[in-house]
Amino acid sequence: MVRAAGLVKKFGGITAVDGISFEVRRGETFGMLGPNGAGKTSTLRMMSGLSPVTAGELEIDGIDATANPRSVRDVIGVVSQHDGLDPDISVRDNLTVYGFYFGLNRETAGRRADEVLEFFDLKTRGGDSVDDLSGGMRRRLSIARAFVSRPRLVILDEPTTGLDPASRNRVWEQLAVLKKSGVTVVMSTHYMEEAAILCDRLIIMDEGRVLGAGSPDELIRARAGAEVAQVRPDDGQRDNVQRQLIEAGHDMSEIGAIFVVRGSNGQRADLSNISGARVSYRAANLEDVFLTLTGRGLRDE
Ligand SMILES: Nc1ncnc2c1ncn2[C@@H]1O[C@H](COP(=O)(O)OP(=O)(O)OP(=O)(O)O)[C@@H](O)[C@H]1O
Ligand SMILES: [Mg+2]
Repeated sequence: MVRAAGLVKKFGGITAVDGISFEVRRGETFGMLGPNGAGKTSTLRMMSGLSPVTAGELEIDGIDATANPRSVRDVIGVVSQHDGLDPDISVRDNLTVYGFYFGLNRETAGRRADEVLEFFDLKTRGGDSVDDLSGGMRRRLSIARAFVSRPRLVILDEPTTGLDPASRNRVWEQLAVLKKSGVTVVMSTHYMEEAAILCDRLIIMDEGRVLGAGSPDELIRARAGAEVAQVRPDDGQRDNVQRQLIEAGHDMSEIGAIFVVRGSNGQRADLSNISGARVSYRAANLEDVFLTLTGRGLRDE
């Protein structure tokens, strides 16, 4: 469905996307995981036909997106990072007006609007003003809107950022159902849990580059092992514990007040000789992968 090769986006002297390559298969949910400024939005906007490609190749559903961004816009649904809903018209009208952009007549646009309102659990809110919706509902509406045109590919830029856990779960459930319907989804996120739950495959991005690619499980197994140790130094023992870990040659990173120690060859790290700290083990996750790849945590807040 998507093929990018050596894709570049520059804004004046800033290189936002620095020659990335990836492919998205039909029917899969594909993720871009990365911290603020990684180049996710810049990449998605090029894929959406909203921002010119600086260099490289980009093909969307057989269309050369570098030459025909308009044609790309006709076949995809886009949910941008900021909602872009019209507060002056009703919830339902936001959907029908969007349908008109795609050339639907009043009747079809109305029917599609009602279908997506139903699917996204907003049926009773169709007559309300957008401003009266909660944050979670507004997000669902902006996702619903992308489906009015029945796109084959939907691009979602951080679909759940800013939502509370309950609303986030709701969006996840709906995206999981949509996935079963066969639509191809490309989404960005900086929540590793979201990527792990929804994405069949993903790329990990940082500073405009792709650092790793694969299914969540593959990435975790290859880059972090099955389990990582969390080493919590006792009071005043940080430097002592760090020295012991370094001397033992462990592969580790420091997050806040904790050392995260990765195993090797699929085995968890043996820390039985470490003194002055409490050691516990947990399953490795995508945040550990990111840490391994960059030496930094995924979240900068
Ligand atoms: N319109 C623009 N003009 C100039 N620089 C830009 C523009 N848009 C993005 N950038 C720069 O490009 C880089 C990548 O930004 P981008 O928005 O693609 O990152 P992101 O991964 O989506 O981050 P976030 O998680 O914060 O949304 C940043 O350094 C950003 O400042
Ligand atoms: Mg962004």
